[in-house]
This record gives sequence, structure tokens and C-alpha cells, in this order.
Amino acid sequence: MSSPSIFSAIQKIRDLLTREEKFRWLGIAGFALCSSLLEVLTATLIVVFAQVLNQPETGQRYLAKLGFMEILPPGRLVFYMALLVGAVYLFKNIVSACEAFYQNFSIQKMNYHFKNKLLHRYAEAEYGFYLTRNSSLGMAVVGGDAESMFSGGMLALGSILSEGVIFVLLIAMVVAMNPSLAFSIFGIGLVLGVIVSKGLLPRFYVFGQRLQEASLHTSQNLLQFFHAFKEIILLGKREAFVDAYKYYSLKKSRVQALQTATNLLPRMVIEVVFMGLFVATIAFLCLEHESPIQMMGILGGYLYTGFRLMPGLNRMISQINTFKSTIPSIERVHKEYLSVATKESYEEAPGLTFQKSITFEDVDFRYLHTKKNALNHISFSIQKGECIGIVGETGSGKSTLVDLVLGLLHPSSGSIVVDDKFPVNSYQWHQKIGYVPQSIYLTDDTIEANIAFGEKEIDDVRLNAAMDAAQLRKFITHLPEGSKTVVGERGIRLSGGERQRIAIARALYRNPEVLIFDEATSALDNETEAALMETIHKVSQARTVIMIAHRLTTLKDCDRIVVMEGGHLKSLIDYETLNAQRI
Ligand SMILES: Nc1ncnc2c1ncn2[C@@H]1O[C@H](COP(=O)(O)OP(=O)(O)OP(=O)(O)O)[C@@H](O)[C@H]1O
Ligand SMILES: [Mg+2]
Repeated sequence: MSSPSIFSAIQKIRDLLTREEKFRWLGIAGFALCSSLLEVLTATLIVVFAQVLNQPETGQRYLAKLGFMEILPPGRLVFYMALLVGAVYLFKNIVSACEAFYQNFSIQKMNYHFKNKLLHRYAEAEYGFYLTRNSSLGMAVVGGDAESMFSGGMLALGSILSEGVIFVLLIAMVVAMNPSLAFSIFGIGLVLGVIVSKGLLPRFYVFGQRLQEASLHTSQNLLQFFHAFKEIILLGKREAFVDAYKYYSLKKSRVQALQTATNLLPRMVIEVVFMGLFVATIAFLCLEHESPIQMMGILGGYLYTGFRLMPGLNRMISQINTFKSTIPSIERVHKEYLSVATKESYEEAPGLTFQKSITFEDVDFRYLHTKKNALNHISFSIQKGECIGIVGETGSGKSTLVDLVLGLLHPSSGSIVVDDKFPVNSYQWHQKIGYVPQSIYLTDDTIEANIAFGEKEIDDVRLNAAMDAAQLRKFITHLPEGSKTVVGERGIRLSGGERQRIAIARALYRNPEVLIFDEATSALDNETEAALMETIHKVSQARTVIMIAHRLTTLKDCDRIVVMEGGHLKSLIDYETLNAQRI
């Protein structure tokens, strides 16, 4: 089994961090080094303490080495020594606690910043990019992968760093105390290293991959289950959907169980190896004819070091495993982050005021990953103040044409410009537009919040005007909570026509210069539609209107009508001529 190395994953994390965050990592490493040095100092002191307890004169010798010539009674010596050990222990643990806080807060801060950055990237991505994707992926990347990259991967990296330094220094200490042990420790370390890196680590990478795949499928299944609930009931597919969820959910639980249990294995091995080593050391020392008293000094240190080493080593290995299992997430986050906004999708057009026209010049358009153009050789102009209707059979390219005017999709060839030079994929152009899409999205909020969409301070004057124009007044006055009524997820508590009118009010609330309707009145009865059209045309005197409709009568007040056919602009004629042709 081959899997990407830990170092290449660290490289990927580095690509995603800012300069300041990389410096923070230096801080984390510095902290780890300090607390590790203290850890080793404590271990050394314990060894010395064990020796002094046995032979107080050793303590006197150490003092002499440090320049203290005064002879202290043994009781005093042991008392001072105990005090020193206690103080160093306290200090060491204070530093460790600070390190834990610094590490966790730093990493969670990076987590928070990175997710914001990623969401910004998604927000700036091209609309065409979204059309090729499943929304579960974006949710899995922000909510799952990025989370496990920081909360799992980075925290593991922090622990590996501190445990690693302690481990190396403690080993060095044991080796310095008894060089003849160096060889056996090195040998055992090597065996453990090979088992972990060849046997365990690749498995943890695979666990990570399986978990990632199962998580994506379970959340996708859940999302579809709740969104398509009505169809599921009516088509009698409850079991099928529940089974699909169960399949991946079971897979996920199994991998999780296997991963957690496997992560406990190194501890068992390490304990056995440590105890074996301990027994072997005693045997070895006995053979060397060391007296039990002499052995105590070495073994005391060894035992302390061992009991500190064992859990440390265990933590290190388990954190390396954890890190390895988050590598698939790190890879996906890295790929997503770099691929989402590869080019600037939207531009600045500071001089755009819209004085004259919107011009299509020989525009071709093809959706990503498709083989056929959705639009071919579209050339025409819309004058400011004009009302343009768009008709054509289903699939003829009407919505695509409108998405191009909105600057959401970009021509594969040709150009669309405002006043002969300004780009439509600009913030300034978007600000001038009120748009009602063919499929409406309402948030689970009040009617007025849906109309003011995203604005915290609602302007009552504009709100009332928009509700009146969209023929919502009668409906709202009959609601007990009026415009403060909550509409439910995706407006589930409203009728299709009510939803459509809220969407129209949303478009009008902005008081836009250009109004674009994509089948915006398809769910309304003839009378309501006629009343709505009348107000729209009344309020649209100075506005430019582009309106897609299936019912030709909807467009009777339009100046010109674009007739689409199979992705081509078939004709551009006035309502009377078109109506006469149809009759
Ligand atoms: N995201 C997409 N990816 C690939 N092809 C698409 C995509 N959206 C639409 N199409 C295709 O492009 C063509 C034009 O679609 P469009 O939505 O513009 O039609 P329309 O005229 O608005 O139809 P309707 O009246 O049904 O709304 C269709 O053949 C459609 O299948
Ligand atoms: Mg359409």
C-alpha cells in the first residue's frame, strides 16, 4: 500500500497558511521545545533525587560541582532536593498548560480564518463552476474536511512536535546514563518504526479516505431525503432512501470503529516492549555485577523515563496515525482551495452608469462539460428603457441568454457589453439589476426579511412599495403576523404564486434600473398576473425590462420580442406581428 507522505501533507498545509500563521507555527514549535526541555530537566532531577535518597553524599558531590562547599546534613539535603523537584514540577506543568492553551487557541484561530477564507473563495467563484458541482461537496469541504484538517490534523501535528522532542531528549538521557542500553533501544525503536510506518500508517490513510467518502454520501443522502420528501412518500421510495443512507452510514461506523480500535494497538505493543526492556535491563545489570543500590539509581531514572516515555510514545504514534487519516481531507481542501477561484470571475467597472444599451455581439455559449452550444451567434441590442420579451420552446436557451445578461455565465466567444464597453460580469452592473429567477429560493425567515434579502435594516417605505407592486398586500394583511410571518424552509409554507410574488417584491425592493424576469409570473392566475404587469409597466417607465414568458399575453406591453429556437435567435419582432403569426 502506498500513500502520500506526511511531509507532502505538511507542505500542502503550508501552502494554505498565511505568513503570520506560519510564524505562529514557529511559536508553537518554540513552546514545544521549552516544555520538552523542562520535561527532560524534571526527569534528570528525579534520577538525581533517587540517587541522593540512597546516598546523600552523591548530593554533596553534585553541590560541590556547582560550587557549594558548605556541608549540609543529609536530612537537609534531601529536604532541599524534594523542594527543588516540587518547584520544577510545578513550573513545568504551568508551562505545559500555557503551551496547551497557546497551541489550541492558535490552531482553532487558524481553523476559523481558513474557513472564512475558503467561503470567500466560494463566494467569488464563477456561477458556471457551481453548475457542475453537487452542493454536498462544498458543505463536506467546509464543514468536514477543513474541520478535520485543523481540529484533527494540525492539533495532531502540534502533539507530535512536543511529544517527539520529549521522546528524543528522554531517549538521549537514558542513553547518556547507560550507553550500553543505546543499542537495544535503538533496535527496538527501529522495529517499532518499521511496523508503524509500513503496517499502520498506510492503513490510516485508507481509513481517512473511506471515512471521507462515506461522510460525503451520508450527508448527500440526508440532504436529498429531506428535500425530496414529498416525492419519496408519493413514489413509495421511503425504504430505498433509508437503505441508501444505511449502507453508507454502516460503512462509516465500521471504519470509525476500526480506526479507533487500531489506534489502541500500538499501546499494547509499547507496554510489552517496555516491560521486556525493563526485565532485560535488570538481567543485564545483574550480569554486570551491579549492586542493587547502584541499580536503584539507574532503574529509578529508567522507570520514571519509561513511564513518561511510554504514554508519550503511544500518544506520538496515535497522533501520527490520526494525522495520516486526515491527509485525504488535507488533499481535498488543498485542491478545492486552489481550484475554486483560479481567475477573477467578477470585475470592477467604476464608470458604468448605463446610459444607452446592452449589446450582444456574435455570442456563442456552451456549458462546462457539454458537447453542444446552448447559444449560437446571438447578436442584438437592448436599448435603455426598452421592454424586451423572450419566448421560445422549452430548452431553447432563454434562461441561458438571461444568465449571460446577468454576467453569471460568460460567452464562450463573442461579447456582451453595456454602453459599448463595460463588462456585465461586474459588481456595478449587478447593483443595477432586479432579477426574479425561474426557480426561487426563499430562506427560512420572515416575508420581509426575504424581500429585503441580506439587509439587516429594512427600509419600510421601499418594503411597502415593493409589496404593493408585487400584489402581496391582500395576502399579507390576512396573515396574523403580517409581513413578519415565517415562510418555512425554501418557502414550504406558501403557495407557488405567493413565493413568486415574494421573489418579485425582492427584485423590486432594490429599486433597480433593470428588471429581469425569468418566468416570474408562471404560477399566477390571469387576473393577478395582469394586475402585476400593469403595475410593473407603470413603475417601469424609466426602467429597462427583460421578461421571459410562456404566455404570449404576458408580453403584450413589450416593445420587442426575441424569439429563441434551438439556441438561435430566430427573430426579433413586435408583439402584434408575433401574435398575428401565432394566430
Ligand atoms: N447547467 C447546465 N449544464 C449543461 N447544460 C445545461 C445547463 N443548463 C441548461 N442546459 C442546457 O442548455 C439548453 C438551454 O437551457 P435553458 O435553461 O436556457 O432553456 P430555457 O429556454 O430557459 O428552457 P425552459 O423554458 O424550460 O426554462 C438546454 O438544452 C439545457 O438542457
Ligand atoms: Mg428557463
